[in-house]
Amino acid sequence: MVFNRRAHFEEAENEPSNPHVHRPIGEIIERRFSRRGFLKGAGSAGLGVAAIGALHPLSAAIAAEAHDRFAFEEIVHGVDTTHHVAAGHEAEVLIRWGDPLFDDAPEFDPRRQSADAQERQFGYNNDYVGFVPLEGRFDRGLLVVNHEYTNEELMFPGLPGPQDEHDFSGITAEMVEIEKAAHGLSVVEVLGEGGRWRYQRNSRYNRRLSPRSTEMRIGGPAAGHERMRTAADSEGTTVIGTLNNCAGGTTPWGTILTCEENFHGYFLGDVADHPEKAKLERYGVPGNAYAWGRFDARFDVSQEPNEPNRFGWVVEIDPRDPESVPVKRTALGRFKHEGAASVIAEDGRLVVYMGDDQRFDYVYKFVSRDVVERADPAANRDLLDHGTLYVARFDEDGSVTWLPLVHGEGPLTEENGFASQADVLIDTRLAADALGATPMDRPEDVEANPATGDVYVMLTNNTQRTEEQVDAVNPRADNTFGHILEIVTEGRHTAERNHWEVLVRCGDPARGEVGALWNPATSDNGWFAAPDNCAVDARGRLWVTTDQGSNWAKSGTADGVWALETEGERRGTGKMFFRVPVGAEMCGPCFTPDDTALFVAVQHPAADGTEAFPGRDAPSTFENPATRWPDFADGMPPRPSVVAITRRGGGTIG
Ligand code: FEO
Ligand code: CA
Ligand code: CA
Repeated sequence: MVFNRRAHFEEAENEPSNPHVHRPIGEIIERRFSRRGFLKGAGSAGLGVAAIGALHPLSAAIAAEAHDRFAFEEIVHGVDTTHHVAAGHEAEVLIRWGDPLFDDAPEFDPRRQSADAQERQFGYNNDYVGFVPLEGRFDRGLLVVNHEYTNEELMFPGLPGPQDEHDFSGITAEMVEIEKAAHGLSVVEVLGEGGRWRYQRNSRYNRRLSPRSTEMRIGGPAAGHERMRTAADSEGTTVIGTLNNCAGGTTPWGTILTCEENFHGYFLGDVADHPEKAKLERYGVPGNAYAWGRFDARFDVSQEPNEPNRFGWVVEIDPRDPESVPVKRTALGRFKHEGAASVIAEDGRLVVYMGDDQRFDYVYKFVSRDVVERADPAANRDLLDHGTLYVARFDEDGSVTWLPLVHGEGPLTEENGFASQADVLIDTRLAADALGATPMDRPEDVEANPATGDVYVMLTNNTQRTEEQVDAVNPRADNTFGHILEIVTEGRHTAERNHWEVLVRCGDPARGEVGALWNPATSDNGWFAAPDNCAVDARGRLWVTTDQGSNWAKSGTADGVWALETEGERRGTGKMFFRVPVGAEMCGPCFTPDDTALFVAVQHPAADGTEAFPGRDAPSTFENPATRWPDFADGMPPRPSVVAITRRGGGTIG
């Protein structure tokens, strides 16, 4: 039996590393006799107090007539080999893995790929998509796209497939270099003319960033710390590349924040004698998902013990300057960063909301020390190096308390292993453990709605939560389908205390055992599972994309984009807008500022759970994939691609 390494790697978030998930028994008893008792009395299986008004069955009749802020006719659940979009819209492939970004880049030929060619072409597994307007125009701009990871079984012909976790049979040094070149980011100019978007080959802005060659600076309190130093960097201030860039965000001054998520997977080696073995374990290092450490000593922790400390950060990139040096902003903490959503707070400072995507890990926010200079982007150059990082404790009374991760405060002292702020940041997870943060059901994207001040938290799933570990904010044991939380700030983003509500509990509402919670106006196609990324459009409407992994076989639908109503009587109503081909996940929803285009990233088509696809009984390979989307050409493997969605005849999406 061939070992599915990529599925194993993708499932890494599902393996908790947080040892602090058991609550004191007194707390559990108190909870049983207070909130849960009340909720049962309210006639609903654990539904959030504040959501009752919107979702109570009595509101169903009103909801049916209430105004629908989403005008489109939804598509249907299902799984097939291609993509689908709501009627009245066009969804065209804009750029694919391997498309040349420069005149000197060769045309894509997957059978004759080289690392140098790949580094001049669009990378693999597009995830986050950011749009930065050029010259103030909304029909011309820069797409900044993360290339999260690689699926070698779909990229390279002739691989035998690993037999187990440590078997890298057939993976050569050249393949490893191609994989590195396919990671990182692409910056590419795009133009929308007459409703059709295309990318501009050889634009002076086009850029590839990769863990193979792109030099980055380390900024903030951990820069230069001895735990950041390696053989190649005795100063601890410079690192080549960025790894596993998942989601991200755009700052008010037009830079991009790209987030290093499952960096642990790139490291291998023996850690039995490693001086920081327990700290590595809290981050899952070494993850043994790639062969890189066999050919490059910096990815072997027995040879380069500090290299893992140089990943797991938020990296700031200026896409308008292709010569600029990206900066790892250590003040924002080190964990498996999903995304980084900026909002200018009530007092002019910047707040960045972030999730640590692993079962039983945490939600964070960073509050800058200084105010954002709106008129002078250059003045914000080092804004993200100074400020306070907080982790969230969600209490049963509906409050969320933001606990500061500041060296010397509370338990974050030298006696407890935190000798400086650099230690607090390098070991963010351990510091948050010490503060008693609330272990969550895999926090993915977190987005703020500027129109309402509400902050949405995508909690994708956690099948390892037991009945004893259920709490009000993570209300289901064996949470297969995830839920969405809303942090109600009322515009007070810098406050140390806000409130929270459950917006929806995902999964099929028709199946009682699932315990889903939607507005009754939600149709059979409007519910979804495993929320991952999200976007708020210019009108303040929420759009959610999903990543079910192989669980699409349980939900009966491929991943996609759903509109989700957050206000009024239709609050909690989903509507299906877009669907991906089999085996893909849906990433990067990104609107142009005028909402006339929506860019979505179709990641790893043909990869996930395709054994369950009718007519197949084997995982996909380069030679025999479940779909050859988007080219459908003989011999061409599936290609992760960004799709541009527009309204036929022009106008606002959805
Ligand atoms: Fe890379 Fe958490 O998804
Ligand atoms: Ca994600
Ligand atoms: Ca994902």
